[in-house]
Amino acid sequence: METVNRYLTSWESFWSSSTETPGEIFWDADPAHAAQQDLVLFQSYADPQLPIIDLGCGNGTQTRFLGDHFAKVIGTEISPAAVEISRTKNAAPNISYRILDVLCPADAQALHDEIGDANLYMRTVLHQLSPADHATAIQSIERLLGVKGVLYLIELSSAAEPYFAQLITQYGLPPGLARVFQHEITPGMLNENDLEVLFPPDRFTVLRTGKSRIHTVHTLPTGEVAKVPAFYAILRRRQR
Ligand SMILES: C[S@@+](CC[C@H](N)C(=O)[O-])C[C@H]1O[C@@H](n2cnc3c(N)ncnc32)[C@H](O)[C@@H]1O
Repeated sequence: METVNRYLTSWESFWSSSTETPGEIFWDADPAHAAQQDLVLFQSYADPQLPIIDLGCGNGTQTRFLGDHFAKVIGTEISPAAVEISRTKNAAPNISYRILDVLCPADAQALHDEIGDANLYMRTVLHQLSPADHATAIQSIERLLGVKGVLYLIELSSAAEPYFAQLITQYGLPPGLARVFQHEITPGMLNENDLEVLFPPDRFTVLRTGKSRIHTVHTLPTGEVAKVPAFYAILRRRQR
């Protein structure tokens, strides 16, 4: 019997029903405010000769920005609809998009066999996975990085939960988040203090970590854009 991939089902439903109306995708911030804040942090660690993979690239908004700064960029997604949107809206000669379930380490290995070591950019993907799946995702990450790749990870931090609670109490549920829940996506939380549990020191070296913000497209009644507390981490595989 074939098992149902709940990530594929819910995210395909989310992306295939997207109208691409501005503001519809909660986290779809202008890269001028989003990936740009990340780039200055990780560019000095990442070998620009290597390709960069935007793991869980969504509609490719941030991927296209990466394409302005790296010679070869690959956006990967579990959702075929997201890949289709990315190819249509965020194409560039040095960017390609393809299906990759980050929970299939064998597929990650096949991609590594094809392109060699790669840098990875991963924005708000890991917290979408159930904690029971984190170790498998990290196996895929390990295979894609190889020896020389560097990972830039940006995720909601432990301060995100109280931030959302207060935002919802004060102003109600943002429509962009309501849409996430309608598709039975159940975001979890990561805790920045668990970084070494997720990325064990015998396998990974943390090069840099710190506080950050996930810029969103949700404008609050104050006129400010919601910026969700986050943390970033720059890691590579431990050199033996
Ligand atoms: C919150 S969105 C972030 C999208 C993009 N990184 C960005 O910042 O705009 C999370 C993305 O992870 C993708 N995703 C969820 N589970 C996945 C999996 N198992 N493998 C690959 N991508 C996955 C979803 O389709 C979705 O596009």
